[in-house]
Amino acid sequence: MNFYVMTLFPEMIEQGMNTSITGRAIAKGLLSLETVNIRDYSVAGNGRIDDYPYGGGAGMVMQAEPIYRAYEEVKSRITVDTGHLRVIYLTPQGRVFHQEMAQELAQEENLVFLCGHYEGVDERVIETVVTDQVSIGDYVLTGGELPAMVMMDAISRMVPGVLSNAESGQSESFSDHLLEYPQYSRPEIWRGQPVPPVLLSGHHGNVERWRREQSLIRTLKSRPELLKDADLDSGDIAFLKSISSE
Ligand code: ADE
Repeated sequence: MNFYVMTLFPEMIEQGMNTSITGRAIAKGLLSLETVNIRDYSVAGNGRIDDYPYGGGAGMVMQAEPIYRAYEEVKSRITVDTGHLRVIYLTPQGRVFHQEMAQELAQEENLVFLCGHYEGVDERVIETVVTDQVSIGDYVLTGGELPAMVMMDAISRMVPGVLSNAESGQSESFSDHLLEYPQYSRPEIWRGQPVPPVLLSGHHGNVERWRREQSLIRTLKSRPELLKDADLDSGDIAFLKSISSE
C-alpha cells in the first residue's frame, strides 16, 4: 500500500504516520508514504497558493493550478497504470468514513489524499482530479491533515502484516457491527475493584458467553443503531430482549 498526500503541512503527516504501528509498517516496507507540498507548486512562484473567492466573502480559496501540478507530480511517481487511481479529498461535505470503507480502500495499491485548508479548494480542480470525497464526521476541522491520517491509520490496519498476530487476532468493535467487550489485566483487585469473576474461572465457554453479552449490552446502550446490521443468533436476541425489559 502506497500513500501519497498532497498537503501544505507535510511534516505533520510524516511525524504522525512515522509513529507507532504505522511507523513500524513503513520501516518494514509494508506501507510507503510520500508527501507532496502543494506550496512547492505555487503559480506565482512565491509560495502563494491561495486567492480571494470570486463572488466575495470571507476567507481564501486554495487555487486549482498548484493542486493540479502537485497531482501531476504524484502521478509521475506511480509506475503502475494510474487509470483508476483513487484520489480522496477530505471535506465535511463528503461521505462519512466507516470501517467497510477502510476495508475497501485497503484493497488499492496506491491511494492519494488531498488535504484542503482555508475556506476551501477551487471546485474545478476537485472535479478534475478527485474520485472520492470523504468526511470523518460531522464537525469542522482546520484542515484535511488529521482526517487523512485517521483514514490512513484505519486503512493500514487492514493491510496484511501491518498488525502482529496478537494485534489482529483480537475481536474488535465494528468488524461485526458490535462494540468490543471490556478488558481487564493484572492486578486481580485494583483500588478495591475486582475483575469480573467469570474471567478468572478458566471456563472458556462461560468467558465467551459473558464477552458476547457485554458486547450486546454496550452496543444496545451506546450505539443501538448498529444492532440492525449485526449477525445475531436466537440466544443473542433473547438476551437483548431480557435486558431491554429490565
Ligand atoms: N476537513 C475539515 N473538517 C473535516 C472533516 N470533518 N472531515 C474531513 N475533512 C475535513
